[in-house]
Amino acid sequence: MSTESKTPAATAPLSAATLARFAKEVAKYPADQKQSAVMACLAIVQQELGSVSTDSEAQIAAYLGMAPMAVHEVTTFYNMYNQKPCGKYKLNVCTNLPCQLRDGGKALKHLETKLGIHMGQTTPDGLFTLQQSECLGACADSPVLLVNDRAMCSFMTDSKLDQLIDSLKSAESK
Ligand code: FES
Repeated sequence: MSTESKTPAATAPLSAATLARFAKEVAKYPADQKQSAVMACLAIVQQELGSVSTDSEAQIAAYLGMAPMAVHEVTTFYNMYNQKPCGKYKLNVCTNLPCQLRDGGKALKHLETKLGIHMGQTTPDGLFTLQQSECLGACADSPVLLVNDRAMCSFMTDSKLDQLIDSLKSAESK
């Protein structure tokens, strides 16, 4: 049975390519456990659209036979899902207590000053989004930050933060 009919009318339908990617993920699980693909489906939507809107959550919920709130709980639990559009480089600075005790807050402040934005904001050129993060599992390396949910940067002194931002900016201008 097609699940597209459950999609709210105001929402653009998922593309055939997106549905094909969903189906590939769902096929990895037993037929009665397709909800296990929810994280993969969220990641696919984010790759394609840059963020996960409540409309997208509703579409994924319909596809997987889940309650939209159950999908929303997954989106909001994990830092890696963007609930609104982000800059090209998403910087997640860990400010949990162990990192706070080792300059995590100072690193965040330094980036706010350097980028001219506050935590949660995106630079006007669309390059950087600055966010706080929960523990990244590298407390001994504090201050730490994660770039685009993948590249971990450790022992981020002010000068290393400056180098990181400057190198990302200069890569963009080439
Ligand atoms: S508290 Fe920051 S990495 Fe663990």
